[in-house]
Amino acid sequence: MSKTRKDSLFLAAGVLGALGAFSAGLAIGRGLTKSGTTATGLPRASVLDTLALGLDVFAPVVAQGVIIRRPAVVALADKLDLDRRAVQRMQKLRDKYGPGPLMLPLPIRKQAVVLDPRHAQRVLDGSPDPFSPASTEKRGALSHFEPKAVLLSEGAERSERRRFNEAALDTAHPMHRMAAGFLPLVEEEAARILEAAREQGRLDWDVWSQGWYRLVRRIVLGNGAAEDHELQAMITRLRGAANWAGFHPTLRGKRERFLERIRMYLDRAEPGSLAGFMAQIPRNALTVPEQQVPQWLFAFDAAVIASFRALALLDSYPEHLQRAREESAGRAGKPQLPFLRATVLEALRLWPTTPMVLRQSRAPTQWEDGAMPAETGLLVHAPFFHRDDAHLPYADRFAPELWREDWEQGVKRDWPLIPFSDGPAICPGRHLVLMTSSHLLAALLEKHTLRLENRRLDPARLPGTLDNYGLRFAVS
Ligand code: HEM
Repeated sequence: MSKTRKDSLFLAAGVLGALGAFSAGLAIGRGLTKSGTTATGLPRASVLDTLALGLDVFAPVVAQGVIIRRPAVVALADKLDLDRRAVQRMQKLRDKYGPGPLMLPLPIRKQAVVLDPRHAQRVLDGSPDPFSPASTEKRGALSHFEPKAVLLSEGAERSERRRFNEAALDTAHPMHRMAAGFLPLVEEEAARILEAAREQGRLDWDVWSQGWYRLVRRIVLGNGAAEDHELQAMITRLRGAANWAGFHPTLRGKRERFLERIRMYLDRAEPGSLAGFMAQIPRNALTVPEQQVPQWLFAFDAAVIASFRALALLDSYPEHLQRAREESAGRAGKPQLPFLRATVLEALRLWPTTPMVLRQSRAPTQWEDGAMPAETGLLVHAPFFHRDDAHLPYADRFAPELWREDWEQGVKRDWPLIPFSDGPAICPGRHLVLMTSSHLLAALLEKHTLRLENRRLDPARLPGTLDNYGLRFAVS
């Protein structure tokens, strides 16, 4: 067994062990199965249910890596179908406790779990006030490489950084203003990926992710960063520390060198890149542009994962593959590619890359069943809402028709499908990333056939977890 694989398995065992010990401690002095309500009327989970939630929902996400994935643990999670177990655990809690929000009897922290679709929408629509995205856990993790990012900011700083992000990422438009410059880069990198895949006889994760990372550096920082593997290594190292949140010391020197490097690219402002585009966007002392960019580099990772899974989805549904091909062939005249965007969105619905959307209430809030104190953490578990087979007929299958209109017309649905979160703190990069990934898929699929070599997905019941690192495609 390789060292990283061993480390990852030890880590998984460690997280589970720590949770077990923590919850056993909780059980002392409280009845194991005693559930009830808080003084103000919200339901409170029993210690046993809290332990089960920790083991089935929380531990697999932490063990797989919140900020950067650990491939060996993702493979294990796939084998054991852990994400399906997580959804089933959440369903049991809803059946037992009703709509909630469900308070957990944790000694060190006020924590609630959102179980009702309307509550999920309320929490996301009520961000950043009173439900702040800058939760304690997120601060602990992301401050390892971007302490002044919008996601960790509040008040006037948040408003200014959000404005800046929206302007730079052109959040309001499905096609970024710089699309005419970015799309040829996508075509070039797709050709390189295909060439490398043909050379080694298959398309695997290494070829795919290396091609993507190059593309991301070119789009965000400029062609001058195409071969900056050192920058990639720097952010990978800092994200590795961020996986441990407050349990890992902050690598201040490394963080400063990383941010210095980003500043260098922003000063260079290469035409045709986001760095060049954002140079003309007004800023002030609160903006701190070089600390907004790490989130972009980091967040593109989700697209690398989701678009590889999207290829696996298309391989499993030949009629949809045909449609994707037709759309790819016409992309010069119709560049918005709604079907391929929907395919990526489906990969994100089925296997959300941000499974835990976290908020922290900054004021007391009132719910149908009772009051919640200020400074309560709220967990919106995206897979529970995305794959709830008790309510959604499409829970476990590929349903691109779900996304037909809403990305274009802003239709509000009555069920939270939230791969990019929702409300005022919704991902400002979603259109840019959907544009990029749909075009990369189009460039690959137009003239090539990619067949999954080592895996068959059951189209009637897609797996709870899909290990993207292990997928391999034959290219012809
Ligand atoms: C498939 C790819 C992506 C997915 C699934 C995704 C998803 C998300 C989600 C769920 C959030 C909310 C997080 C939270 O509230 O805790 C978020 C926030 C954010 N995303 Fe993305 N994202 C993606 C790509 C990108 C890209 C490529 C960029 C920039 C180029 C970006 C920029 C941001 C920023 C700046 C925020 C913070 C927004 C705020 O706090 O107001 N994302 N993203």
